[in-house]
Amino acid sequence: MNGMSESLRKELNRQFNHELMAAHHYEALAWWCTHRTLPGFARFFRKQAGEEREHADRIGRHLIDRGVEPRVEALPAPESLPESLLEVARYARRLEQNNSRGIHAAYEAALAARDYPAQVMLHWFIREQVEEEAWTAEMVGRVEAADCAGALLELDRHIEKLLEQREEQGD
Ligand SMILES: [Fe+2]
Ligand SMILES: [Fe+2]
Repeated sequence: MNGMSESLRKELNRQFNHELMAAHHYEALAWWCTHRTLPGFARFFRKQAGEEREHADRIGRHLIDRGVEPRVEALPAPESLPESLLEVARYARRLEQNNSRGIHAAYEAALAARDYPAQVMLHWFIREQVEEEAWTAEMVGRVEAADCAGALLELDRHIEKLLEQREEQGD
């Protein structure tokens, strides 16, 4: 296997930082929920932050294995804080839609470079993003359907189980 092309290096390092940024933003959503006494949503988002860091690790490991040094860049804070739980859910959905675009751009670069190892590494992410977009869409729908304070508290009690069950079904 030849070395990794310069454009693919840049693209994978960008996505590596994009995953770290997603972790950073999920942390922000988790604290937003903690502050508003929504411990179920907070735990769920905190878990997502951990998963996003694992995603960054996957790309970082791939770069290391290919003799490329991953570079951590400055991470932007969320542009504005949500005003409602519905906005939080929509924020998460936007985060995942943007992340899918980032993964696809990285995959395009791997195709253009005819870099087969990077393509195979990215297949996992392409599939993962289908699940990530699905649970965020489900979360938006469930928050939309919770039309009073009591329903929201009830949803908070069950949100982890509800969204994790759907992930298990997908396996
Ligand atoms: Fe991710
Ligand atoms: Fe994600």
